[in-house]
Parts: sequence; C-alpha cells; structure tokens
Amino acid sequence: MAEPRKLTPAEEARLAQVREQFKEKQEISKSLNSISYKIGIYSGKGGVGKTTITTNLAIILAKQGKKVGILDCDIDCPNVTRVLKISERPQADSEGKMIPPNKYGVSVMSMGFFQENEDEAIIWRGPMIHNAINQFISRTNWNDIDYLLCDLPPGTSDAPLTVMQTLNLDGFIIVSTPQELAALDAKRSINMIRKLNLKVFGVVENMTGGIFGKGAAIEMAEELNLPILSEISLLADYSSSYEPTVINNSKSLEEFSLLAKNIDGIITQLSSH
Ligand SMILES: Nc1ncnc2c1ncn2[C@@H]1O[C@H](COP(=O)(O)OP(=O)(O)OP(=O)(O)O)[C@@H](O)[C@H]1O
Ligand SMILES: [Mg+2]
Repeated sequence: MAEPRKLTPAEEARLAQVREQFKEKQEISKSLNSISYKIGIYSGKGGVGKTTITTNLAIILAKQGKKVGILDCDIDCPNVTRVLKISERPQADSEGKMIPPNKYGVSVMSMGFFQENEDEAIIWRGPMIHNAINQFISRTNWNDIDYLLCDLPPGTSDAPLTVMQTLNLDGFIIVSTPQELAALDAKRSINMIRKLNLKVFGVVENMTGGIFGKGAAIEMAEELNLPILSEISLLADYSSSYEPTVINNSKSLEEFSLLAKNIDGIITQLSSH
C-alpha cells in the first residue's frame, strides 16, 4: 500500500488552524450548554440605564433563587464591575477556565477585569469583538446558569450587531427613557433586532416620572405590539446609593420584582414551546 503523502508546511499549518477553530467551537458550545437562557439588555441610545437595569434585575433574580450571570458585552466601556464595585478578578479553575467573581449572588464576567486603566478607551473592530466575545464565552466556567444577562453596547453600529450575531441570544429587553426622541431611537433598535429574526421580550421605560415626563416608551411599545415589562421610576438613589438600589429602596424593589416576574413568565412560555 502506498505511503500517505507527506503534508507540506503550509498544509500542516492550515490543518493546525482548522483543529484550533474546531476546538474553540466545541469549547463554546460546551460553555453555552451550561447556560439555559441568554437575554440581551439593549437600547438605541447610550446612558438610558442598561447597566442599571441589568445589575438590579440580576440581583433580584438571584435573590429569588435563580442562578444568574452577567456578561458585560459593552467591551468599549465596560462598567458593570464598577457599578457592582467588584475588585476581585476572575480565578482559574483546574482546566484553566475563568471562574467569574460573584457579587450579590450574581456571577460577573466583564472586559473591565482586564483593563489596565479604567479611564482608557478600548477601540475594537468587528472581528476583534467577535473574538473577544467568543473567548469570554469559551474560556469562562459559568457552572450552570439559569439566566445570563448580557449588557449590550447601545445603538445600531457594528459593535452591538457583532455581539448579537456571536451570542445567539434568546431575546431582548429594550430600555428607553420616557422622551419621544429616546423612544424613536429605541424603535430603530427594535426594528434592527426584528430584521435579524431575533425576539424582543418587551420594553422597560426607565427614569419615568419627574423631569423626563412619562409615557413615550410605553406608547412606542404599544404601537409595536410589545409588552411593557416594567416602569422604573427616576430616583436619585440609582446614582447616589452605595449599594444597588433594589437592595435598599422599596419602590425600586417593587418595580424590579415586576420586571423579574414578567421575564420569568416569558421564559416559562418559551420553554414550553
Ligand atoms: N431610574 C433611574 N433613576 C435615576 N438615575 C438613573 C436611573 N437609571 C439609571 N440612572 C443613572 O443614569 C446613569 C446612566 O445609567 P446606566 O449607566 O445604567 O446607563 P447605560 O444605558 O448602561 O449607559 P451606557 O450606554 O453608557 O452603557 C447612571 O448614573 C445611573 O445611575
Ligand atoms: Mg452601560
């Protein structure tokens, strides 16, 4: 029988690359298998409260006994670690995977852990974002998570789009403030999600009442036939309190409990299909 032909160095290199990619794909699907549901928290505009909603919702779901993780997907400006005041870095398990630090019962993974300087901007392009998110997923030991809340970058640019395509999220919570312009931006982002054939769970009107008024996000949700998941009041506590507001403010607790209940209901429906 003829000896198999010896591979050229270029073929060897290509084979090694394909093996590596295959291994990464396997690692990603193994890691994703330990997460039951991945939910994106998204907005058309920056600064409307995505991180606030993500962290407070995660804490309340964890308090209710769910296993919850947060993936800070805003890799340009990761700030979940700052908001939750996590100073601990991820530890490695016996296989060299990162164990996300836990705060208030929530496992957190963020690019913020790997930033040398908090004030420094990280500039990422599409393929780098894809790689970073893939690595976050494949190299993290999530250890059986019921809900992974993904704090997404705002807007309809390359960054959120890449994250959405990479993560294959089960659905999105759209955050908007009550002003008409913010609601219009939110509508654009909802249309983008729908174009990608992904599911929008519903809308949260954040910073409602007070100086921003009330209702534009609600009207937008009604117009688009989407559920209103909760209305979160404008409260000074959110920016001044040392601890996440849901822990020590009864109004916040009530409004986030409603959000958690609605999300649970949607997930129960999803899982029965
Ligand atoms: N309901 C609220 N009442 C009062 N302040 C709020 C409320 N929600 C959020 N904030 C404050 O508004 C600011 C922006 O919120 P947050 O960082 O959550 O927005 P974001 O959408 O994540 O922003 P970015 O797009 O920059 O990531 C923060 O200082 C936060 O404390
Ligand atoms: Mg944010």
